[in-house]
Amino acid sequence: MTEDAFDVVVVGSCMTDLVSQAPRLPKAGETIHGHKFFIGFGGKGANQCIQAARLGVKTAMICKVGKDFFGDNYIQNFKDNDVHTGFVRQTSEAATGAASITVNDAGENAIVIVAGANMLLGKDELQEVLPAIRKTKVLVCQLEINAQTSLQALQMARDNKVKTIFNPAPAVPDLDYNFYRVSDVFCCNESEAELLTGCPVNNVDEAHRAAQELLRRGCGAVIITLGPQGCVVLKAPESTSTHVPGTAVTAVDTTGAGDSFIGALAFYMANHSSMPLEEMARRANQVAAVSVQGVGTQTSFPFKRDLPAKLF
Ligand SMILES: Nc1ncnc2c1ncn2[C@@H]1O[C@H](COP(=O)(O)OP(=O)(O)OP(=O)(O)O)[C@@H](O)[C@H]1O
Ligand SMILES: *[C@@H]1O[C@H](CO)[C@@H](O)[C@H](O)[C@H]1NC(C)=O
Ligand SMILES: *[C@@H]1O[C@H](CO)[C@@H](O)[C@H](O)[C@H]1NC(C)=O
Repeated sequence: MTEDAFDVVVVGSCMTDLVSQAPRLPKAGETIHGHKFFIGFGGKGANQCIQAARLGVKTAMICKVGKDFFGDNYIQNFKDNDVHTGFVRQTSEAATGAASITVNDAGENAIVIVAGANMLLGKDELQEVLPAIRKTKVLVCQLEINAQTSLQALQMARDNKVKTIFNPAPAVPDLDYNFYRVSDVFCCNESEAELLTGCPVNNVDEAHRAAQELLRRGCGAVIITLGPQGCVVLKAPESTSTHVPGTAVTAVDTTGAGDSFIGALAFYMANHSSMPLEEMARRANQVAAVSVQGVGTQTSFPFKRDLPAKLF
C-alpha cells in the first residue's frame, strides 16, 4: 500500500470539535446548562482530504494526533472515508487537536482551539514520508500546523514537480513570501485575501484587484472564494481574472464550505489535470454548494454518488 502512488496528499491538521448548544454563552466562573452536545470531525487539512477522497481519488493524510481516544477515533474516521492512514503519527507529548465550541440560541459562538499534536508535526516526519510526497499528483497544505512544516512540505512537492495547492488559513498578516513561490494554486477566502493584501475584499471587483496583488507575489494562480458568489480565478501570466459565479442554493450551514471547495479542487487537479483552472473552479463551486445545504462540516460533504455524472 505505501508503495503505491497517491493522487492527493494533504499535510495538515486534525481537530475534534466538541460542540455545546446553550441558551447563552457562560460568563467567567459560571456554569450553565446546555440543551445539546455533539462531537464532530474537523481541522482544515483533514476536511479537505476527506472531501477529495469522497470524490473518488486515492488520498493520504500526513498529520499528527495524540495517543488518546480522540486520536484513535480520528484514524478510524479516515479509514471510514478511504483515506490512507499509514502516515498519521500518534504522539504522547500532546493531545489530539480539539476545539471546544459553545453556540448560543442567537447562533453566536465562543471557541477555544487547542492545536495540541498538530503543532508537533515536523521535519523528521516529513523526511519519513518523502517517497509518498514525491509520487503524489497533488499536495495540499494550510496553516493549522507549524508554518515551517507546511512550507517545507510544499517545497518538497515543488522540488519533485508535484502540483501544490496552498490555503493560507487561518491567515497571518506577515505571511512568508516563500509560500507564494511554492504555490501552483494559492486559494483563500475574502477575509484572508484582505488580511494578506491589506486591501478590502467585499465584492467581485475588489477580489479581482486582490488576486492581482497575490499573483504578483509569485504563485502560479490565485483563487479567491466569495461564498454564494463563487470565486475569482487568476492565472499567470494573465492580467485579468475570471469571475466564476456560484450555484444558487438555499444554504443551511456554510461551515466547511471552503474546505469542500479546496478538496474538490485537489480532486480535479489530480483526476483531470489538463482541465482549465476556471472549469475546475466551476465544478468545485458546485461541490461546495452541495456542502452548504447540509448541517455540519464533514457530515455535509458530498460523495461522488451524490453528484451529477457531468461533474466527473
Ligand atoms: N451560500 C452559498 N451558496 C452557494 N455556494 C456557496 C455558498 N457559500 C459558499 N459556497 C461555495 O463554497 C465556496 C467557499 O465558500 P466561502 O468563500 O464562504 O469559503 P470559507 O469562508 O472558507 O468557508 P467557511 O469559512 O464557511 O468554511 C464558495 O466559493 C462557493 O463555491
Ligand atoms: C475565511 O476563513 C476563515 C477561516 O480561515 C474564517 O474564520 C472566516 O470567517 C472566513 N471568511 C469569510 C468571509 O467567510
Ligand atoms: C480518474 O479517476 C478514474 C476512476 O474514478 C480513473 O479511471 C481515471 O484513470 C482517473 N483519471 C486520471 C487522469 O487520474
